[in-house]
Amino acid sequence: MIKSESMYKISKFVAPEFIFGADSIDYVKSYIKNFSLTIPIVITDSGLLKASWVKSILKQLEKIDIRYCIYDRVSENPKDYEVEEASKIIRNCNCDSIIAIGGGSVIDIAKAAGIMSTNPGSIKDYEGIDKISHPMPPIICVPTTCGSSADVSQFAIITDTKEKYKMTIVSKSLVPDISIIDPKTLTTLPRELLISTSLDALTHAFESYVSLGSSPITDMFSLKAIKLIFETLPKAAKDPENINYLEDLMLASLMAGLAFSNASLGMVHAIAHSIGGYKDIRHGTCNAILLECVIDFNYVYAAYRYDKISESLGYDLKGLDETRRKNILIEGIKDLKRKVDFNITLKDLHLKREEIDIISRHAINDICMLTNPVMPTFEEVKEFIERNV
Ligand SMILES: [Fe+2]
Repeated sequence: MIKSESMYKISKFVAPEFIFGADSIDYVKSYIKNFSLTIPIVITDSGLLKASWVKSILKQLEKIDIRYCIYDRVSENPKDYEVEEASKIIRNCNCDSIIAIGGGSVIDIAKAAGIMSTNPGSIKDYEGIDKISHPMPPIICVPTTCGSSADVSQFAIITDTKEKYKMTIVSKSLVPDISIIDPKTLTTLPRELLISTSLDALTHAFESYVSLGSSPITDMFSLKAIKLIFETLPKAAKDPENINYLEDLMLASLMAGLAFSNASLGMVHAIAHSIGGYKDIRHGTCNAILLECVIDFNYVYAAYRYDKISESLGYDLKGLDETRRKNILIEGIKDLKRKVDFNITLKDLHLKREEIDIISRHAINDICMLTNPVMPTFEEVKEFIERNV
């Protein structure tokens, strides 16, 4: 008879096979051969198509006599009609696989187009959790930013352009078959994007750590990612060509991705999806704007977890009351943002009263809100946004 209570609740951890390291991009052709793939579609964006290492992947395909199709019309916040366009190419060209080369937007379109190439209806039918019934073609991911971690996650986020909000699709089917994570791809990432995607990764790490779905396994990745981003991002912002800093940021992004894919997220992402979908604002920017505001709102419901983050960052909390402990963490985030010249606030988005209403409504229905330390009401979200604009 077991006399004591179990310390851990049941949890599972899903992750794809991945290769991490400089020059790992050279392994794309090996996986094409290993998986016996014949006609992949390469999904990327028009800017990336000109990058030398994208050309090097296409050359790898040509070297092993692989014909391929290309879809390169992915925009910053990936849209439902782009899913339709890409899936049409997959069907028309009889593509048997997908190679996604790019940031979160490209990878999300690759996943969603993969769904629509083998499943009926429209992408909206798959919004929510575990709605995909037919197997998708294999997906090989080559991420080129250090933020979204869509290359290791069970998530795809697509903008519903009619309703102007972001749909969240969650399924184990969306975990790519292989992710080839080469930090050298970050050398062509503009500094501004390096910062905003790293702040997205930081938000993944924070939200997964305080998530109601967190586990000892995800905690390990969340805490390490937070520490690594705090230590490295200011250095990388000053010297964005230093490969060692880029390696650490890519590693932090990977760890934050493994954490949030399994623990899910929270109120920052719920509101960021809503604002990003409505105003077409970059995802990492929305998160970075909201992170410390949400900590201020959430702290009372997860003080112990937020304090653990502070302790892991070396902040001395001894003898301090809750308000001062909360403020130390908030100031730490503000200081990090100052160091990397990120100074946009919610005020700068100039949200109108009627827009706040719509944004709050979508945020409250976002799947990410379900694992926030507390489930806020519509009025509370609305008041939260109004207080910060
Ligand atoms: Fe994110």
